Amino acid sequence: TDQGDYPTEPGSGGELHQRPGADAPRMTTSQGIPIADDQNSLKAGERGPTLLEDFHMREKIFHFDHERIPERVVHARGYGAHGYLEITDPIPELTSAKLLSEKGKKTPAFVRFSTVAGNKGSADLARDVRGFAVKLYSEDGNWDIVGNNIPVFFIQDAIKFPDLIHSVKPEPDRGFPQAQSAHDNFWDFISLMPEAMHMVMWTMSDRAIPRSFRFMEGFGVHTFRFVNDEGKGTFVKFHWKPKLGLQSVVWDEAVTIMGADPDFHRRDLWQAIQNGDFPEWELGVQVFDDDFADSFEFDVLDATKLIPEEQVPVRIIGRLVLDRMVDNFFAETEQVAFCTQNIVPGVDFTNDPLLQGRNFSYLDTQIKRLGGPNFTHIPINAPKCPFHHFQQDGHMAMHAPKGRANYEPNSWQKGGPRAEPVGSYQSLAEPVQGEKRRIRAESFADHYSQARQFYKSQTEVEQTHIANAIVFELSKCETQAIRERIVAHLRNIDEGLAKSVFDGLGLPEMPEPMKPARDPIDLPVSDKLSILKNG
Ligand code: HEM
Repeated sequence: TDQGDYPTEPGSGGELHQRPGADAPRMTTSQGIPIADDQNSLKAGERGPTLLEDFHMREKIFHFDHERIPERVVHARGYGAHGYLEITDPIPELTSAKLLSEKGKKTPAFVRFSTVAGNKGSADLARDVRGFAVKLYSEDGNWDIVGNNIPVFFIQDAIKFPDLIHSVKPEPDRGFPQAQSAHDNFWDFISLMPEAMHMVMWTMSDRAIPRSFRFMEGFGVHTFRFVNDEGKGTFVKFHWKPKLGLQSVVWDEAVTIMGADPDFHRRDLWQAIQNGDFPEWELGVQVFDDDFADSFEFDVLDATKLIPEEQVPVRIIGRLVLDRMVDNFFAETEQVAFCTQNIVPGVDFTNDPLLQGRNFSYLDTQIKRLGGPNFTHIPINAPKCPFHHFQQDGHMAMHAPKGRANYEPNSWQKGGPRAEPVGSYQSLAEPVQGEKRRIRAESFADHYSQARQFYKSQTEVEQTHIANAIVFELSKCETQAIRERIVAHLRNIDEGLAKSVFDGLGLPEMPEPMKPARDPIDLPVSDKLSILKNG
């Protein structure tokens, strides 16, 4: 029920003995039994023991005992709001996605912003990547663009994600630090993973301490596919551009804000929306064909790389507006389940090995986090379009299908839903071939060029912030060899940056630049065996 504002009239609430009235319904148990007294448990005598028979007290305490669900394994701290996507420049020639097909078309949206590493109760201003997850409730089902505020990622292959996150989270023996990067495990892992260097530049930049969610960009990160009505595929990358522009705080401000108000970003979004100052982002797409992908100097399937906007300009096709806060934080923001595999007709995946792993991971973790396979029955996750299938039963099933048919094909007159190829989801008919091997393509090998490009694109002030951030973070790292290894990587990115960090840390001797070594795991099996034999 809506409890409204604090009462101003006498008798409208706030008294010690509160009774039901016009605005206050009668209290019941969860079975609907009217409750006479919610202040005292049922006792034997005035001062005797509480009776086991007190079903009201037992039910109330039992339910309280079970209020917590597991927090998300990553992105545990987040804040969400409702809104809509409105199309300003439709693209039916590129995609059959109905929600992108008409000018002015509006699709309801739910967005959750988050930090990655901290737990549910951590502070908003931590130096970290921010999640930017968008659920679009389209007429053809739910489409989730589960992105970040940084256009690239730390790793190229999902198989490394558990290692990355273990290294970022508190160390298992001591249970700290909470901070994303201020520790040996994180820097140790990163220093052994040259592919992370590009993203490290971004996370050490001002991008990782945004002023508020309203001033952040968002990126789908991976290359996806659009598929049009003729079945023609085009590559696409998704961008969210904030109407207010991009703004960050500086580290000293972040530290002060975190101490004074750990909820700073949440409060900002809540207040803006409550005041009618609705935050807005443009939806942009970078679209390119196979010829561009083949000629581009990096692999478009490599999530540690971006496609410069100078090479493929971002075409703005819509606007995302957030205009309504949730009614209940737990029911909506905590229970919302985004998943990269939720796509609609007209959109498809690519073979990006990070994306392929994500498509498994989200559904898998949500089955545990949300208590079973029926979390799509929770209103925030349910499609807003009609849906019909033969999935049934399981914990917490809320849908009660009628009739005899729960399989198909069947012969019954009211036999339930049937599949129809026309107008339904179709994967792009892309040829696939090759040997089954654990291998990383040579086209994924250059780890420093875009890191350098990013560093060079920054102003002098921003470059100083990056150097200061790395010095600050590495000064928390106790192992000298790890600090040296990072400086050795930085020498492949920018000698000036390497020197600033070297000086800032007071290292005794400048390490040699890191040699971009090819790991034997990348080699064909025959070569691997010969390395094992011959050393
Ligand atoms: C959660 C983004 C890579 C596994 C999230 C969330 C975002 C996100 C925004 C929070 C969703 C929410 O608000 O509920 C990204 C991006 C990635 C990436 C942009 C790389 C481009 C990965 C990879 C994996 C992964 C490689 C696993 C192989 C997860 C899991 C959750 C999560 C398990 C928690 C989901 C839940 O409990 O609901 N990710 N992620 N992510 N991500 Fe990722």
